[in-house]
Parts: sequence; structure tokens; C-alpha cells
Amino acid sequence: MTESVTITDNRTGESVEVPIVNGGVDASAWKKLMPGTWFLDPGFSVTASTASEITDLDGGNGILRYRGYAIEDLAENSSFLEVCYLLLNGELPTQAQHDTWVHDITFHTYIHENMRRRFYEGFHYDAHPMGMLVSAIAALSTFYPEAKDVRDPENRYRQINRLISKVPTLAAMAYRNTIGMPFVYPDNSLSYGANFLSMMWKVAEPDYEASPVLAKAIDTLFILHADHEQNCSTTAMRVIGSSLADPYSAAAGATAALYGPRHGGANEAVIHMLNDIGSYDNIPAFIESVKAGKQRLMGFGHRVYKAYDPRARIVKNHADEVFKVTGRNHLIDIALKLEEIALEDEYFKSRNLYPNVDFYTGLIYQAMNFPLDMFTVLFAIGRMPGWLSHWQESVEAEARISRPRQVYTGLPERKYVPIDQRV
Ligand code: CMC
Repeated sequence: MTESVTITDNRTGESVEVPIVNGGVDASAWKKLMPGTWFLDPGFSVTASTASEITDLDGGNGILRYRGYAIEDLAENSSFLEVCYLLLNGELPTQAQHDTWVHDITFHTYIHENMRRRFYEGFHYDAHPMGMLVSAIAALSTFYPEAKDVRDPENRYRQINRLISKVPTLAAMAYRNTIGMPFVYPDNSLSYGANFLSMMWKVAEPDYEASPVLAKAIDTLFILHADHEQNCSTTAMRVIGSSLADPYSAAAGATAALYGPRHGGANEAVIHMLNDIGSYDNIPAFIESVKAGKQRLMGFGHRVYKAYDPRARIVKNHADEVFKVTGRNHLIDIALKLEEIALEDEYFKSRNLYPNVDFYTGLIYQAMNFPLDMFTVLFAIGRMPGWLSHWQESVEAEARISRPRQVYTGLPERKYVPIDQRV
């Protein structure tokens, strides 16, 4: 079998044979044969925007691997900071590399006091923490103007390090601002996850001691969120990065892309949905309204997974351990029933709609006491190393500026009409 496709322009009879490499076809052959004729692919359903060595996602078979390691293996055996290193460097760290990396991350958790005193205090009391986080990440670029020098590898390392270190601080600060509690400074004696929980929940106790089960759970959830190849927010990161903007500005754009309910905002939407359903009795009517197209079953469906999202399975398996510490989240029963019905129902089966990562994460976050509007913030903390790995890969590859074409469907040229002659 020849691993190629032949494209023929029927207007001229000219053909070009293009090899299929790694499941992709190089679009430059098309450009040579048919300059000025564009592929129309809204939402990039069939367009690969880049080649990448970071994450392998086989949506048909429900497989997710970071740098070749199965997500199940990493969730079971690794830690979030080790996974960050793996995503960014391509290999698991040696002990010495691991220690340096963890030290570097741990000792960059503080942020400039002006961020807290002047910047955060300017937000309205009910500002959404995602809105604050997007703005705060962008504002960091003003504190590190050298970050603009994106082509210098040492400089890149410093900014990557700062972003991974500081995003939990910014996130917790957003929360404390919302509830009117004083900011808790980072505690560098704690692990990444435990320090975040301390900044969230510490009140007057001298040292905050996070439950090891919950610190481990948050670390695992961060691992599951760490990367997901060319999703909406990562694409935003690469697109902004392609203009050679600094990584804080690019990460702020990625965070904004994550905010929407079709992407990272879905975990929050799932809890609203489960609350609205309220009880077992209302499930059949809810499913019918989804099938009638009146609403979506949030936390279900995915552009690339046409099988069970492997991350959802891991989260589901962790839920009971968390509930042993926090108490059971009663909404889990409605979620389990919804899943059971949907997996048997022709509407969902025929469209390959399975639970995605957001279906169960919200239940765990809620049991851990995180308010709903912090859920997407948690996703953003976990996704930061993925965004940065893609940004780094793209800058190192000297990627061209992202500039898609359009198929213009508007009016042809017409003359300006003065306002008094318009009807
Ligand atoms: N509930 C009911 N029907 C659905 C759902 C759903 N959650 N998702 C897709 N469909 C239907 C949709 O109506 C369409 O049916 P038809 O062919 O009859 O018109 C078909 O399935 C294909 O849907 P689509 O909108 O073309 O699929 P997409 O690939 O553009 O959208 C999605 C993917 C994730 C935006 C969508 O499945 C969705 O809105 N899901 C709910 C929101 C959600 O859970 N998002 C989190 C995604 S995972 C976390 C992340 O990576 O961000």
C-alpha cells in the first residue's frame, strides 16, 4: 500500500502526490498546486496546527501519554512537579535534576508586594477568580520585562520556573481576596500541593497541616490536567507565542481561553447541572431535554475522545479516597446514575459521548471545599506546564507566526453612502 494521497486540480488536470507521514499530510504541496485556494476547516477539525513531541492522544482508544508515559502510570507513580519536568524536558529527571527543579520551583513562589496591595485590592469584592487570574498572570509580565527575550534559553527557563511557581500563589490570592481573608504567604517547607492548600485554607494556626490524602489528590488532579496537546487554550498559547510575545502574556491568553464553559469552565458547569437536576426522579426528564437538543450533558463529549476519557476514569477511582476524608458528596449519586443511563442510551452511544475529565473533578473539588468559581482556576494551575512546554517547543522550532486564511463570504466592493442618503 502506498502511504500517500494524490490531489488533482480538475480545472487544470494537474496532480500532486503527497506522502502521508505520521498520520499527516504536508499542506505545502496543496499550496504549490492550488495557490489562493484555502481549506475551510472552522474549529480545526481536521487541521494539525503543528507537529509536537510532547503528548500523544489517541482519542479513538482512550489513550493519553505524556512523552510516551501512560497517564495511568504517571498518576499512580509520579508527582506533579516531576511531570512538569518531564513535559518540559522530554525525560524524567534524575534524582539530582529532580532536587534542583523542585528547589527552584519552591523558592520562586513569592510575588511582588505591589501585586497584592495595589493590584488585587483593586478588584471588586465579587470578581470571579478566573478573571483575576487572567489579569494577574498578564500583569506579571510587567514585573519581568526581560521575559520578552524569548529566544534566550536561560531566560526562558527562569520565566517558566516563575510561572509554575507563582500561579498557585496568584490563584490562592484571588480566592482570599474574594472572601475578604488576609493573604497567606507561601510556605517553602511544604510540597507544591500542600503549600497551595495552606495558602487557600490557613487561618490562625501557626502551621497549616494539609491532609496527606488531599495533598496527594490535588497533586494527582494537577497531573491529569498537565497537558492535553492542541486543545483550545494550548492553541491560544502557541498562537500568541508565535508573535514572540512574552510567556506571561501568552499564558494569560491561554488562561482566558480555558475560562469558557466548553473548555475548563465545564467542571463548574457540571456542578450547576447536578444541582439543577437535584434528585434521581428528575434524571429521565433531564436526559430527554438533552436528547431534544435543549441543553448539553456537561462533562460529556470531547472533540478528540471517541472513547472513555482515561482521565475521567482515574478521577472517578480517586473520588472514594477523597470522600473518606471529606465526607461523601451526595451529587456523586446523580452523576453515577447519569453516566449509567448515558452509556446505555442510543443518543450518546451513536455520538460517542462519554464522560470527560470534568465530569468527576468538580465533585472532588467541591468535597474538598473549593468554591465553584475556583474549579477552573485549579485546572489552570495544572495546565500551566503543558502550556509552557508547547510554548517552549514552538519557540525552539522558530515556528512561523500563526496566521490562518479565511474564505471571504461577505459583499463585493461597494461605494460609501453619506448618512443622509441611507435608508
Ligand atoms: N451533551 C449532549 N450532546 C452533545 C454533547 C453533550 N455534552 N456534546 C456533543 N453533543 C452532540 C452534539 O449536539 C452533536 O450532535 P448532532 O450531531 O446531533 O448535532 C454531536 O454530539 C457532536 O457535537 P459537537 O458540538 O459537534 O462536538 P465538538 O467536538 O464540537 O464539541 C465539546 C466538543 C467538548 C465542546 C462538546 O462535547 C461539549 O459541549 N461538551 C460539554 C462541555 C464539556 O464537558 N466540556 C469539557 C471538555 S473536556 C475538558 C477540556 O479539555 O476542556
